[in-house]
Amino acid sequence: MYREAVEGPEAVRRTVTVCKDAVEVVAEALREARVKRGFVVGSGTSFHASLYLQYLLNKYTDLHVTAIPASEFRAWRPTRGTYLVIGFSQSGESSDVVEAIREAKRLGALTICITNTPGSTLTRLAEYSIVTRAGEEKAVAATKTFDVQLAASVMITRAILGEEYGDLLSAAMAATRVVEREDLLRELASKLRETGSTFILGRGATYPVALEFALKLKEASMIHAEGFAVREFLHGPLQLVDESTPLYVLIGSRSSYEESRVGLERIKSYKPNWVYIGPSTPKLGELFSEVVEVEDVGEDVAVLPIVKAAQLIAYYASIARGLNPDKPTKLSKVVKYS
Ligand code: AGP
Repeated sequence: MYREAVEGPEAVRRTVTVCKDAVEVVAEALREARVKRGFVVGSGTSFHASLYLQYLLNKYTDLHVTAIPASEFRAWRPTRGTYLVIGFSQSGESSDVVEAIREAKRLGALTICITNTPGSTLTRLAEYSIVTRAGEEKAVAATKTFDVQLAASVMITRAILGEEYGDLLSAAMAATRVVEREDLLRELASKLRETGSTFILGRGATYPVALEFALKLKEASMIHAEGFAVREFLHGPLQLVDESTPLYVLIGSRSSYEESRVGLERIKSYKPNWVYIGPSTPKLGELFSEVVEVEDVGEDVAVLPIVKAAQLIAYYASIARGLNPDKPTKLSKVVKYS
């Protein structure tokens, strides 16, 4: 898990270079498609990538998509009209996403897959494929393949708009700089040694990353963790916060920080033991117990350095708790039903 997490920035650089043509083909198909609505499906980490692509496509393009767990596709699929389905899967073999794409195809939907595994079942099923270039991922907890799923999401969105995505390279560099500060991350993770439960808050682009950080803490570190949108947290979960509650706040830009501030100040009054991960902004030290500064590379691509900090904290928390992060005892890398 450690080696693969650290390989993430290079995997993003490779994906940006090698997948350009495939992304153009997919973007053209999406531009030309008469359908203006769709689904993005995936499971676990790949579902969180689906949420991020949903955020980007709905925010910046005319295409309206809904992200749902792949296993729910059959229950949610529309009973009328035409639509498209995009499936994320690092393995290209998880039963839930394979079944969703198979069903979508049967119903005549345009199908696209984003996978890290060339020649996988998903690439054979879907009409269009983007094969990301993270290299083989062995650890059960996905790390570098999530990085490239995020990168592919930005590439597709920008390609639809005819825009460049050079900022992904700056973000990959910022992620490398996060890795270089792993002593700080290890120290923060050591505070999760005895923790029973924790919360992760995000806003906009970092909301799916908050959910992914929570998943990494469950899978690798066996900590009950839940992700929320910052101000959504005030609508109930806040009741669980006290001085012993570890809480992480993931923020992608100064404007997101300003938008979240009222909510954060409300949470602060319950004195959580909390860590900010995001770009520098004045007086962070007055609000948070600890700060992990990442470079200000722009809200949307800031997910890359922020998730790198999250993955390494989960890894080091696992070690601090005497676990083997590479071998969660109840999980398998690919969830199949037959
Ligand atoms: C642990 O069960 C897995 N790491 C899980 O979170 C994974 O993301 C999910 O099963 C989806 O896998 P896929 O991307 O290969 O389809």
